[in-house]
This record gives sequence, C-alpha cells and structure tokens, in this order.
Amino acid sequence: MTDRDSTTPPDVTCRVCGGQVEEFLDLGSQPVSQRFRTQEDTSGEFFFRLAVGHCTTCTMVQLVEEVPRDEMFHEDYPFTSTGSRYMTEYFSGVAKGFLETELTGPDPFIVEIGSNDGVMLRTVAEAGVRHLGFEPSGKVAEMARAAGVRVRNDFFEESTARETAAVDGPADVIYSANTICHIPYLDSIFRGVDALLGPNGVFVFEDPYLGDIIEKRSFDQIYDEHFYLFSARSVQAVANRFGFDLVDVRRLPVHGGEVRYTIARLGARTPSAAVTALLAEEAERELTAAATLREFARGVREIRTALVAKLTALRAEGRRVVGYGATAKSATVLNFCGIGPDLVEFISDSTVAKQGLVTPGQRIPVRPPWDFAENYPDYALLFAWNHAEEIMAKEQEFVANGGRWLLYVPDVHVV
Ligand code: SAM
Ligand code: TMP
Ligand code: ZN
Repeated sequence: MTDRDSTTPPDVTCRVCGGQVEEFLDLGSQPVSQRFRTQEDTSGEFFFRLAVGHCTTCTMVQLVEEVPRDEMFHEDYPFTSTGSRYMTEYFSGVAKGFLETELTGPDPFIVEIGSNDGVMLRTVAEAGVRHLGFEPSGKVAEMARAAGVRVRNDFFEESTARETAAVDGPADVIYSANTICHIPYLDSIFRGVDALLGPNGVFVFEDPYLGDIIEKRSFDQIYDEHFYLFSARSVQAVANRFGFDLVDVRRLPVHGGEVRYTIARLGARTPSAAVTALLAEEAERELTAAATLREFARGVREIRTALVAKLTALRAEGRRVVGYGATAKSATVLNFCGIGPDLVEFISDSTVAKQGLVTPGQRIPVRPPWDFAENYPDYALLFAWNHAEEIMAKEQEFVANGGRWLLYVPDVHVV
C-alpha cells in the first residue's frame, strides 16, 4: 500500500467475518451525535475517533471504533421520524404493505427492531394485528405505548429474541428501519432472528445505501450510530454466514437513498431478479474497491475545505447563516469541519427535545422554527437535506424574503 506509513493506524478486525478492515476515511474526534446538552453543562463529553474502513474479505464497510450502545440509546434519545410528515406517511404505507402481503395468514405476528415512537407499528396496532416493538430508548418507547403499540423497552439481541420466541411464538415478519446499520453485534441479531422467525418468515430491513453515499458524497451519513454502510454484496455475505439468503432488494428515496433488504432462510424463497441486478451494478462500479473508497475520501476533504471557505467568506461579508435541522448528520459535518457558533449562529429544529440545548461538540444553540421565521438569516445551511423537498415547501417565505439555501452534498452550492 503506497499511501500508508507509520502514522497510519493499524487495521482492525471485521466485526462480521474477522477479516482485515482497511481504513479509508478519518473524520476525526467526534462526540455522540445526538447527545444535545444544556448550555450550562460543561461536564466531560464522550468523544471517539470516527473513522471508516472496508473489510478486504467480506466487503462490509464499517466504523473502526465502536461507541458503547448505552451512550447513544438511553432514556433521553431524542430522534423520532414523526417530525416529518413525509416519513410519517411513508411508515404508515410500509405497515399497510405488510398487512396486505406477509400478514394475511391466521393470527399473524410482526416484530419491529427499533420501533421508536411507534411511527410504523401504530398502523399495525390500529389494524388489531399481533405485534411487538423492541425499543431500548425510554422516552420514545413511552410515546409508542401512548399510541397503543405493544413495546418491550429493551435491545433486540439473541437473548431477548429467544424470550419473545418462547412467549409469542414465531414471527412472520421482523422489520427494522434505520436501526440494523446501528448495531455492531450483527452476529447476535442474526442468531436472534434465527430463533424468532417462522420457517417462511422474512427479515426486512432498510438503511442508508453505500451506493448512494458514494454517489452523493454524503459523508455526513457516517456517524456513531451508523456503524455499517451496507451494500447488497455485504448484506448477502452476512446473511449467508448465518444461514439466510438475500431474496429481494428495493432502492428507496428516503434519507438520501436507502435499500430495503429482504432476508429469508436459505432455500425458503427464490431470490428476485432485483438482487442479481443490484449485485451486478455494484460489481460494475467497483463499489467496495479500495480505489473507489479512497476517491470518495478525497472528495469529502474537498467539501470540508470548500464549506469552511464559503462560511468564512459569508461571515466576512457580514451575512447571517443559520443551520436548518439539528440532525445526527450535522454532528459529523460540524465537528469534522470545525464549524462552531461563530460561523453558524444557531440551528433551527422542530424537535421539542432538542430545542433550547446546544449541539454535541461544537455547542451551537438549537432553537425552534419560530426563531428562524422571526428574523430570517441570509443563508440557511440545510443539514436535513434528505428532507429538502418537504422543508423547502414549508419555508417558501424565507426564500421570498431573499433567503438562500446552502447545501454541501454532493458539493458546496447555493440554491
Ligand atoms: N425506526 C425508526 C425510524 O426509522 O424512524 C427509528 C430509527 S432510530 C434512527 C434508531 C432506533 O433504534 C432508536 O430508537 C434506538 O433506540 C433503536 N435501537 C438501537 N439499537 C437497538 C436494538 N439493538 N434493538 C432495538 N432497537 C434498537
Ligand atoms: P433526520 O435527517 O435524521 O431525519 O433528522 C431531521 C431533523 O430535522 C430532525 O431533528 C427534525 C428536523 N426537521 C425540522 O426541523 N423541520 C422539518 O420540517 C423536518 C422534516 C425535520
Ligand atoms: Zn468481513
């Protein structure tokens, strides 16, 4: 390897197959991405080195350092999808889809991993179908209960899955959105799925897709919670390892590009043509080749330089810049680029649990949307770019008042 020297950190072992993980991007010292805190709180903050590599054996792209799960998912975990009308409707559509297909037999049973505030399962509960959500974060789990969803306030893993299998019997569907990629212990997850899933059941999960991340240079999809960046090839490899097969894939427009993977027991279902097609596409574009990943890393450093230069120039011109969406993604951008309250005055966010607090690491105040509307800035730096359509539609007055949107993926540009 020509570009590795004595300062290059040693390679680590793949969390899935034990192969060698070769690091390709270092995003520096980072806090827990959704640990918002009060302005007065100056107690020590948890930091870790956010770096990402790929396994030279099974191709799985993964973080090289793991943040303990209780640091991320706890009583006060603030994220919910319910703040987005689009996502709320999207998940009710997901539930209806299952109710019409996999859940039509006698007394069907669906389990969700990371059921959060019940955004998907509340539709299942309303239909009177047997279900259980696994959700370790206390406050969001309570919101789901209040909406009539049956929740176990716990992590899904082999032991808890076995307990559920013993009490509730086999599941027809195990579903998970934006959660499986958060879980380093995939071995325990797959053994849990093996214990709980019926013989012809499906394990369906959807997460940000490596193919979209590379294409859009959306490096902010890399943060503590996103331990894995999946591709069809790496998911197929991990499924095979635990006696399962990848039987369907579907690309999704949500969160900047995701893939929904459908996993079944080996031999139980015939893989669709979409699986063959996506695997072929990934091979053709050499998605997990070292050269592709290093080129991506070069592009990311280019974005950092351009974004800091743009914000510095705007400040020099006396322009006001406010962030929009205190996303987990924004923690990566702000801390990697060293952008603090001197460059971004505050961040507007509709999540009540984030308002009045400061962002992790860079300590930028988070304020409610009415503070944004009261005194529009010259520029809004859109951290929630994955919700651009919904946000731009609701913030037309900002643009009518001369405001401009500033984006940083796939490059720094103003719209
Ligand atoms: N599925 C929801 C959605 O897409 O809006 C929530 C996604 S949120 C990014 C991830 C959720 O997974 C959090 O609510 C977190 O507490 C939960 N989680 C993390 N590890 C988990 C595990 N091992 N089992 C079940 N839930 C888990
Ligand atoms: P996400 O990109 O991880 O889904 O997070 C989106 C964040 O943006 C979340 O904190 C809620 C916030 N948000 C708004 O402030 N206004 C909006 O209209 C939407 C859709 C999200
Ligand atoms: Zn591996």
